[in-house]
Amino acid sequence: MSYNPASSQQSELRRSNRAAVLLPRDLGLIALFAALIAALGFVAVPVAGLAVPIVLQNLGVFLAGAILGARRGTLSIVTFLALVAAGLPLLSGGRGGIGVFMTPSLGYLLGWVAGAFVIGFITDRIRTGKPYFPKVLAAVLIGGVLVIDLLGALLSPLFTGLDLGVTLIGSAVFLPGDILKAVLAALVAAAVHRAYPVPPAGIRRGESAA
Ligand code: BTN
Repeated sequence: MSYNPASSQQSELRRSNRAAVLLPRDLGLIALFAALIAALGFVAVPVAGLAVPIVLQNLGVFLAGAILGARRGTLSIVTFLALVAAGLPLLSGGRGGIGVFMTPSLGYLLGWVAGAFVIGFITDRIRTGKPYFPKVLAAVLIGGVLVIDLLGALLSPLFTGLDLGVTLIGSAVFLPGDILKAVLAALVAAAVHRAYPVPPAGIRRGESAA
């Protein structure tokens, strides 16, 4: 069969238009993960000397990025934070409202958006091929632990007035728990990937993404 550049360009355009559209399934997944993050708000452990609590909600952020990919993962965090900003008491401890963005939590909350994007950006590129678990774990450690904890610690002194060095050392208290959550998220994401691979955004099950 002869190669027709015009029709090849057209099918490429059709594929990218398809991928640009979010299907009802994608919207459902975005809402589902926003709800999961809200549900994980039941855990908040205040740490003496730290302005930000130990939470479980960042586990939901890791899962959103690793399972949904960059676009839908990021949108689920943006949806969750928009609901918080609108006043719904969805942050751990039942907090909500625009005021929570004027606290030392700001960097972490922005980090959740950036972190889900980075995790998804990496996992979108490693969906195929084995071994999957170590790769997705690396993605979660980079996007979920490094990006979020660093951004959080960097912006926190704007509100606390504390020295950046002191803040960075203090926030190391989050690391053991966050690394544990990263391992758990990678195990869950790898299991979901094996048992029920979520098609990329805009692509129907059985339809080729390539
Ligand atoms: C808030 O609820 O005010 C913001 C929560 C941010 C908590 C951050 S997420 C990364 C780090 N790990 C934790 O367990 N807590 C902080």
